[in-house]
Amino acid sequence: MDANNPPPPLSAKFKDSFAYPTVKERMPSIVAGVADTAFRSKVWIKEKYGEEGSEDLKKVAGGVSKLRNEMMTGKVLIPITDTRSDVKLWNDYLREVTERDGEEPTWFVSPWLYVECYMYRRIQESVEKCNILNKFDVFMDQKRKSLLDSAQPTLILLNYLMTVVNDLDSGETSDKQKLFKQLMQISLWGNKCDLSISGGQDNAQTSCPLDQVNKLRQFILRDDLDQVWQHLSSKSPSRVDIVLDNAGFELITDLCLAEFLISAKLASSVHLHAKAFPWFVSDVTKDDFDHTFQFFMQNNSLAMDMFLKRWKGRIEDGSWVFKVHDFWTSPFAYCDMNKYMPELYTDLGNSTLIIFKGDLNYRKLVGDRNWPTTTPFEDSLCGFHPAPLCALRTLKADLVTGLEEGKAEEVKEQDRNWMINGNWAVAVYCDRIVQ
Ligand code: F6P
Ligand code: MG
Repeated sequence: MDANNPPPPLSAKFKDSFAYPTVKERMPSIVAGVADTAFRSKVWIKEKYGEEGSEDLKKVAGGVSKLRNEMMTGKVLIPITDTRSDVKLWNDYLREVTERDGEEPTWFVSPWLYVECYMYRRIQESVEKCNILNKFDVFMDQKRKSLLDSAQPTLILLNYLMTVVNDLDSGETSDKQKLFKQLMQISLWGNKCDLSISGGQDNAQTSCPLDQVNKLRQFILRDDLDQVWQHLSSKSPSRVDIVLDNAGFELITDLCLAEFLISAKLASSVHLHAKAFPWFVSDVTKDDFDHTFQFFMQNNSLAMDMFLKRWKGRIEDGSWVFKVHDFWTSPFAYCDMNKYMPELYTDLGNSTLIIFKGDLNYRKLVGDRNWPTTTPFEDSLCGFHPAPLCALRTLKADLVTGLEEGKAEEVKEQDRNWMINGNWAVAVYCDRIVQ
């Protein structure tokens, strides 16, 4: 992007977005859900942590009800006041935005990406201020229920992966490309299962993920998976990164993909990037990752036993590396990563391929800007290119780039909510930097 051809403005002042009415209802209901969780946890918290726990819970409930009130009455976004490592980053940015715009940012008027991220950071603030509940995950119940509700398709997928891996181990696999594309698509459609789009309501995977891949192929608006395959298979196996999105079934599909990449010798290691604190309701934290292993342990299944052992081994021998970084829970577009977190950018530069999962990662890749839908994907990255990258995303927010001329109009005819209902997807690849 040069000075004569600047990118479009930051997405939608909130009010202009066509997703506005839905989102404006959904965000306060997520905060109300947190207050409800605090209320419902009263008994067990008191039993487990005594009076101090009860006091902490009151702090959480008080913090989120204040937050909801500020939101509903369109107040100014105030600085964060806890002691997390990212406080300065958030507050400096608030100041920067105020100076740039000549006015303080407020709820539902400021850009959606910033406001939505800020909401989750403020929820965390009320937890951070607790004495003993400062590790409390206010979305844990929903995430765990969603994982339980996806038990059936999880078993189908793991049983299938078991045969794939056994064949790979014994050298009997004929068509790795086909399997690669299939597992990438399973991981792509795993992204339908997120709890922030459903306002925290049930959104588990209930249909067979293998059938789904065939049925849903027609809903992929751009499919670069052959190019991704060409890229990976032409290299000797080295590091692949997956920037994770949601816990539950989506995480399982991502771990299956990570397993396949290593078993098929397309990668020597997979670095899995997760969130440092509960984020967008269902995003993966370290606890969610560990809980997935516990879930496997509690089930009586051969496939789960096999992968539990294998995946624990992968963590131990370093072929899987689990990482968290404050950047993933910041409000920044990825083109600003090098400015704010240069060491993360450099680290990602050691990857052969970075796979970004989900809608929010995609929004941050393209800066959450109102691009014409035919803008080349590489242009919309605004210079972000630590390494070749691929985005696997179902559309839940009203922006997309890299589509063919006429595609957006054609889809809109069929489905007027195509950009926000999670029923359409892109699997897009970029192997070059455009400044
Ligand atoms: O549309 C609601 C929403 O919270 C978006 O703001 C966000 O981009 C998306 O859902 C989260 O989806 P995902 O889990 O795929 O990133
Ligand atoms: Mg998510």
